[in-house]
Amino acid sequence: MRSSLLRSVKTLARPTTARAYSVDSVPNRKVAVLGAAGGIGQPLALLMKLNPLVSKLALYDINNTPGVAADVSHINTRSEVTGYMGDDQLGQALEGSDVVIIPAGVPRKPGMTRDDLFNINAGIVKSLCTAISKYCPHAIINMISNPVNSTVPIAAEVFKKAGTYDEKKLFGVTTLDVVRAKTFYAGKGNVNVAEEWECNYYNALSRLIG
Ligand SMILES: NC(=O)c1ccc[n+]([C@@H]2O[C@H](COP(=O)([O-])OP(=O)(O)OC[C@H]3O[C@@H](n4cnc5c(N)ncnc54)[C@H](O)[C@@H]3O)[C@@H](O)[C@H]2O)c1
Repeated sequence: MRSSLLRSVKTLARPTTARAYSVDSVPNRKVAVLGAAGGIGQPLALLMKLNPLVSKLALYDINNTPGVAADVSHINTRSEVTGYMGDDQLGQALEGSDVVIIPAGVPRKPGMTRDDLFNINAGIVKSLCTAISKYCPHAIINMISNPVNSTVPIAAEVFKKAGTYDEKKLFGVTTLDVVRAKTFYAGKGNVNVAEEWECNYYNALSRLIG
């Protein structure tokens, strides 16, 4: 009875897809999430905790990080989770990071223009990127804070000034726009939303917009 139980547990634990990774063969990678206690930051922290490629996960915010980090750390996956809160802990959060993901800032609220959003988030992104250029200048940066088409250039200018800019390592995250467009089009065009229809994507998009 006991051995069959153990066997079934082993079967459940066995990787089932070709993309499963053996921990022994995976290098150590540290990921820092800046703005980790927010609406985007929390589910993002969860996704990073589930990613077998991540060995250390640093969660930084100006608010509430200890609770978020404690919750995320209870998930029984490989990475070691640490929470950091406030300016004086930002350096520790960033030190040694291979990837930094930035959803810090404010989302647009009713009555706010994109300029209002820019005025707040530009300053936040500038100070976070200044710290990145000091503590993990070779990290890959994923910018989520909006407006992405302005926050990415701000990051680039900060890195250029610090002498750490590498255009191959700075990314603006636009996945949400793409999946939204696909979902809206699928609704309008009566297409199965889960189906692959990539080849028609630009046609679809222009029909949707036009
Ligand atoms: N690129 C995209 O596709 C995409 C998608 C969704 C949201 N966003 C953007 O992401 C940003 C965050 O959205 P949200 O819904 O999570 O907002 P939110 O208000 O829920 O969370 C923002 C978090 O950032 C933190 N924060 C503020 N200043 C900070 C600082 N100096 N350092 C560290 N953390 C700081 C806040 O404490 C908060 O926890 C917004 O700018 C939003 O527009 C982008």
